[in-house]
Amino acid sequence: MINITIQNIEEETAVLDVQQFEGHSLMEALKSSGYDLLAACGGMALCASCRIEIEKGIGALAEPFGQELDTLDVLPDAAISSRLSCQLKVNQEMDGMHIRIPKS
Ligand code: FES
Repeated sequence: MINITIQNIEEETAVLDVQQFEGHSLMEALKSSGYDLLAACGGMALCASCRIEIEKGIGALAEPFGQELDTLDVLPDAAISSRLSCQLKVNQEMDGMHIRIPKS
């Protein structure tokens, strides 16, 4: 099991087992599970419409780099907890992570 606690844009919280998406992007796991992410660029780290905030467990993730870092750098309200879910591969280290999908 890879359980992730997710707060959606309505501020409702649920626990989702994303084990079946291991090796795929977290964006794909969220969209396939019915979460409302536009993901307009299709996972190219260009649009930021798949952005999430890591509320707990950010230490389990590698630092952003390359295009993800470039895109996050130009977001006016990005924080250290901000990540592009299309650039995060689902893996066992994510078990117990808490994320939030921001309103915009
Ligand atoms: S889908 Fe566009 S940045 Fe992730």
